[in-house]
Amino acid sequence: MRADRLLQQYVAIRRLSERLCAPLAVEDYVVQAMPDASPAKWHLAHVSWFFETFVLAHRPGYLPLDARYATLFNSYYNAVGPQFSRPARGHLSRPTVDEVYAYRAHVDKAMLALLERGGERVAALAPVIELGLHHEQQHQELLVTDLKFNLSANPLRPAYGAPTAGGPAPPPLARVAVAGGPVDIGHDGDAFAFDNERPRHRVLLRAYGLGSRAVTSAEYREFIDDGGYERPELWLSDGWRTVQERGWRAPLYWERAEDDWHVYTLSGLAPVVADAPVAHVSYYEADAYARWRGARLPTEQEWEHAAGAESAPGTLLDDCPREPAPAPAPGLAQMTGDVWEWTASAYLPYPGFRPLEGALGEYNGKFMVNQMVLRGGSCATPRPHIRRTYRNFFSPEARWQFSGIRLAFDE
Ligand SMILES: [Fe+2]
Repeated sequence: MRADRLLQQYVAIRRLSERLCAPLAVEDYVVQAMPDASPAKWHLAHVSWFFETFVLAHRPGYLPLDARYATLFNSYYNAVGPQFSRPARGHLSRPTVDEVYAYRAHVDKAMLALLERGGERVAALAPVIELGLHHEQQHQELLVTDLKFNLSANPLRPAYGAPTAGGPAPPPLARVAVAGGPVDIGHDGDAFAFDNERPRHRVLLRAYGLGSRAVTSAEYREFIDDGGYERPELWLSDGWRTVQERGWRAPLYWERAEDDWHVYTLSGLAPVVADAPVAHVSYYEADAYARWRGARLPTEQEWEHAAGAESAPGTLLDDCPREPAPAPAPGLAQMTGDVWEWTASAYLPYPGFRPLEGALGEYNGKFMVNQMVLRGGSCATPRPHIRRTYRNFFSPEARWQFSGIRLAFDE
């Protein structure tokens, strides 16, 4: 990518991270209500650490603001060095929020000086800088989803922002028929993609059907009302055990109030929006729901192939986080945005997969076990970040992302 374009993107993406935190009180930055939900302050520092470690540390004359941050804000890169305990990130009352913003400014100053100089040095570093920008966009989504979880743990149910307006009722769920045959899967070409999206390769698909939109909360409620959480025949063994151990009876954030379901949202506790996609379900719940409907989840190859067709877009993260919204139109909709869609595919390397060289090889490849692939992005995904070949992945019991359900059918 050209240096001037890179500079422009650097400024815009770094600004968005800070804008997302604008509604926060200083106390909100520090909470970590579970090991997976990092404090906002940690995200802001870690994405800066990424640029410092993989770009600036190799520049002559660069001096870190505080050498101890190298360990504090290293997430999981063993080749770089030791890491501070992930579940204990909420113990970091220091550096303070102001000091974390000063760290960001320190990194920005050096990065902007580098990018403004341009030339061959920037050209050589451009792929890593671009990766750093996509990394920061990933963390923008995590910042929002972690923040939602962390705020939800407070019985006062604080709101991040004002509610967004709902839309008209979505069209009925239809089956979209997709022809099978040999199809190409994975990213090709020069545009940015993560290493896990390559290489492009051919797979053989049988003809299949795909739900025209994401499953709504009203539809999911029928599963609850039909005793879905009490019927072991609907569940995978691990899923049934998880339901028992954790006492699940509804998606994360749902709770019974005044004889109806309410849900914690970024705008506080509110009645469940029946027409909006159900969100915050685990893979196990998505799988059980699909079985109950006489359907199944799509494989990631089926999902990606179908996503090549025209599809009405869903809600993405533009300037401010929102909640998933009803599908806008008949036909294939919401393949992008609103909720990440669980697929039936385990997160595995594509045939011929080669991780990035060096420490950055730890970015994706080492997580290719015990996780399922999700596709399509959510209302918390920055719009320029998502693409058809994008592979997200989480453990099957994870529920704190905006994860939802798209049905698939055998034809
Ligand atoms: Fe990261």
